[in-house]
Amino acid sequence: MSYQVNEKGYYGEFGGAFIPEMLYPNVKHLEQNYLKIIESESFQTEFVSLLKHYVGRPSPLYYSKRLSDKYGIRLYLKREDLNHTGSHKINNTIGQILMARHLGKKRIIAETGAGQHGVATATVCAREGLECIVFMGATDVARQMPNVEKMQMLGATVVPVQSGNKTLKDATNEAIRDWINHPDETHYIIGSVVGPHPYPDMVARFQSIISAEIKQQLLEQTGSPLPDSVIACVGGGSNAAGAFYHFLNEPNVKLIAVEADGKGLETGETAATMAAGRPGIIHGSLTLLMQTDDGQIVEPYSISAGLDYPGIGPLHSHLFKSQRALFIRATDDEALAAAFELTRMEGIIPALESAHALAALSKLSFKKDETVVINISGRGDKDMEAYRNHMKNIKNKEQENTQTKLSLNNEDVYTKGYTFPTDGTLVDFRKVTGLYIP
Ligand SMILES: Cc1ncc(COP(=O)(O)O)c(C=O)c1O
Repeated sequence: MSYQVNEKGYYGEFGGAFIPEMLYPNVKHLEQNYLKIIESESFQTEFVSLLKHYVGRPSPLYYSKRLSDKYGIRLYLKREDLNHTGSHKINNTIGQILMARHLGKKRIIAETGAGQHGVATATVCAREGLECIVFMGATDVARQMPNVEKMQMLGATVVPVQSGNKTLKDATNEAIRDWINHPDETHYIIGSVVGPHPYPDMVARFQSIISAEIKQQLLEQTGSPLPDSVIACVGGGSNAAGAFYHFLNEPNVKLIAVEADGKGLETGETAATMAAGRPGIIHGSLTLLMQTDDGQIVEPYSISAGLDYPGIGPLHSHLFKSQRALFIRATDDEALAAAFELTRMEGIIPALESAHALAALSKLSFKKDETVVINISGRGDKDMEAYRNHMKNIKNKEQENTQTKLSLNNEDVYTKGYTFPTDGTLVDFRKVTGLYIP
């Protein structure tokens, strides 16, 4: 079984390039040149140097002792959160900005969900001195404001998109519309392994540095380059593609992808494409897609803006169909719990997206002492509002529990010399000192 794209742009039955005629010259030109450019010595020298000196690679592979002890495994965390701009997205935007230069393009557009790809694109455009326009759903503009402000400071124009449910799918629609209107001067930096061929393959190649480093680092730390399992979250699927890439042909390495299940599949408020999707075309490729019986896209839902997407990259549809990878789901609540577990046990605040991958620890059973690598795709700075709300909710629940305790019968409460009213009046114990409440 091959897990690489074929010469027609397909992974098994998924992929292809379903594009409007106006974009055909752009996509064809890219397809005919991307491999030549990537493999050229000048590209490789600059790409490798920027990953090292600008992004800060290699990102650490960190052995998590406390979580290892808790789950009875040997757990390593791949720290993409420590990259410049805070996520794996910069690996791809560095590659694509160099590609744009080789193609002679002067205007850059991008879509973004969580804002991480938008920030990574605005960053490389600032460095290259190129115009940058980022399309972002209005819902995501509101929930990822720190990243909107960063993009603006970097000199990008952020266009809030008002169509659909104003999230990643709608931002991508708008970016494609812009591309159709300005095909000659524009390069579209797609942020995941989605879109028409050759984008999924090109982005997967740029992200494959993640698994190349994992192999090297595991060898140094454990004596073997191969883990038993690699776990990553999937929105469009670029961090998972990068973390899986060099293990695809290692059948003894389990590949586990975690989708966002929002409020749960049964509620319909989900973004779990594998569980809720059927083959269909979205953003230029044939893949699994959440859709109605008559082919209308079903609006996805997830607390995580980066996973809130109704499709998935065609490579992942192929990994699912061929059963090379296991796809599981984590709800908003499970992801939040996992984010707090990592934070409290290792002092690392993960992005909400990465928290979905961490949720796999409590959802799966592992062999004793097996080596597990989880890709921490990004850091949680942008998600502080969601985390603040979660802490507030927990506090409110604790207060409710205290209220329940306050209404216990007087006989259930032991006191040190306090006389209770006998007429049934409730006592506010917070104002009374010298009490012991069991
Ligand atoms: C930190 C982080 N992880 C994961 C994702 C999901 O994207 P992908 O599936 O392409 O890795 C995003 C998307 O914005 C992200 O910001």
